[in-house]
Amino acid sequence: MADHDFAGIRACVFDAYGTLFDYASAAARCLAELGGANEAERKVRATMLTALWRDKQLQYAWLRSLQGRHADFWQVTGDALGFAMATLHIAEPGLRDRLMNLYLTLDAFPEVPDMLRQLKRSGFATAILSNGSPAMLDAAVTSAGIGGNLDAVLSVEPVGIYKPSPRVYQLAVDRLNCAAGSILFVSSNGWDAHAASAFGMRAAWCNRDRHRDEHLPGAPDVEIRSLADLPGLLAA
Ligand code: LAC
Repeated sequence: MADHDFAGIRACVFDAYGTLFDYASAAARCLAELGGANEAERKVRATMLTALWRDKQLQYAWLRSLQGRHADFWQVTGDALGFAMATLHIAEPGLRDRLMNLYLTLDAFPEVPDMLRQLKRSGFATAILSNGSPAMLDAAVTSAGIGGNLDAVLSVEPVGIYKPSPRVYQLAVDRLNCAAGSILFVSSNGWDAHAASAFGMRAAWCNRDRHRDEHLPGAPDVEIRSLADLPGLLAA
């Protein structure tokens, strides 16, 4: 990790899924429909579905970006869910639609509302920069009740390509009217934090699950375990 003198930071820009919103909460709300002989087995199946769904969602986003065949994140997320359910032989009628609808009302991680409130109180601009489509992000922000403490909710849709394309990170620079080096980009995805750093932003990796360091261009300035650590870090 590089140093973390954040004196010049004016804006905090957040990844959405996995960083502010807990995508595991969708399958966790459908435990009874996932198969498995008992509660423990159902939880294992929810964890497997969540992991495969997420992996495929990211892969399909990256593959479409490489092919120049963009489709919005709602379609990519649905395609990934179809693959994951087929792989795990989950065929419960109506479950695909139910899981997709739950993606619109994912739980925010518990520390998120207070963290955003504190950043706003300290004078930082705040924004989301996400692969999500505008409608998906609008629904999740509204459901979590955090819109009042966000200055902008930015989707990749205007540039029609997914992270980690530099064109996506540029959206935040343009919209916030802030130099890249004055933005702290915050993501739970190591690859996303590396890409923002390589683009020229400062970057915080919220590594809740203690993943290993990525071997990619860029270097996150700081690694945190919870977003609750951010306001203190920026005040220091
Ligand atoms: C996003 C995904 C990458 O919100 O988590 O952009």
